[in-house]
Amino acid sequence: METTDRILALLYDRGEGLFALDELASAGGVGRGELDVALGELRRRGQRLESSPAGGVRLLRPVRLAASLIERDLPTRRVGRSVICFAEVSSTNDVALEAIRQADADGLVVLAEWQRGGRGRHGRRWISQPGRNILLSALLTEPVDRGGLRHEALTIATGLAVAEAIEAETALSCELKWPNDVLLEGAKVAGVLVETRRRDDRLGVVLGVGINVNAAPSGGEPAVRATALIEHLGHPVERVEIVRRLLGRLDEWLAAVEAGQLDRLHRAFLDRCRMINQRVVVRCGDHTHTGRVLDVDPFRGLILCHDDGSRADLPAERSTVVG
Ligand code: BTN
Repeated sequence: METTDRILALLYDRGEGLFALDELASAGGVGRGELDVALGELRRRGQRLESSPAGGVRLLRPVRLAASLIERDLPTRRVGRSVICFAEVSSTNDVALEAIRQADADGLVVLAEWQRGGRGRHGRRWISQPGRNILLSALLTEPVDRGGLRHEALTIATGLAVAEAIEAETALSCELKWPNDVLLEGAKVAGVLVETRRRDDRLGVVLGVGINVNAAPSGGEPAVRATALIEHLGHPVERVEIVRRLLGRLDEWLAAVEAGQLDRLHRAFLDRCRMINQRVVVRCGDHTHTGRVLDVDPFRGLILCHDDGSRADLPAERSTVVG
């Protein structure tokens, strides 16, 4: 680990506490001159450091996202094999999709503090204040003829991983609304946008996740009430820990999908989804379907019983619940 990242890790692990400069230099294995350079570099990277008159320093929380903090001892097999954090991008999904052709891009995770053109499903915008929330895309790639990366199952798995990560870090209870909404007390706290591209002989699937952590957007989807974790907890939340949990849960659900354990995924999703037996209106392509939800299936999508008794399988990729 390079010196600046080592110093960052030490300050991060100290929490709110002050680190005496001499102690920090010695723990980081550097002299005072090198420490000053590293602290200057951390400030340049956007970390907020507070110095005390007595010669101590502390990292103000929540911290700016840093790949070195996220990757540190990350217990994942595939997701998060490399992590990149940007100050600003058009969309993290675009950056991840661009990487498909690169060797070793599988498992790449892209994060940004701000997106100029963040997008949600069906061409909607995803709005998020700079530096407050989680804007993340995880890229999975495989040869086009393998067919293991199923859109439907990955959408469900990603929503589930987001809900579990939030719960593990905050003890709040999340619900899932098919196909891609994560809800807290009925309001949307996170959304998932799964996008697929073919580049030459490789297929890339990007799992895009937006989580409102420290600020809820205004002016998003008009039909959906938005919320943020901070509104439920009453204090700012550290994003690094939620990202790490999310990558861990995503990695596990991905392994389950690869191992064909779709029943487990199905049950876990249904445990958090209150839509079964509810009457819904779903737009799918050019059609509007009204009926009762029979099931949410990791292969078939939403299974609906129309009022006339006929049934329809509605794929997540083309559907949106409008009522
Ligand atoms: C939705 O609820 O409609 C899906 C929202 C997905 C937003 C995330 S933010 C990170 C990634 N980059 C994007 O442009 N969109 C996804």
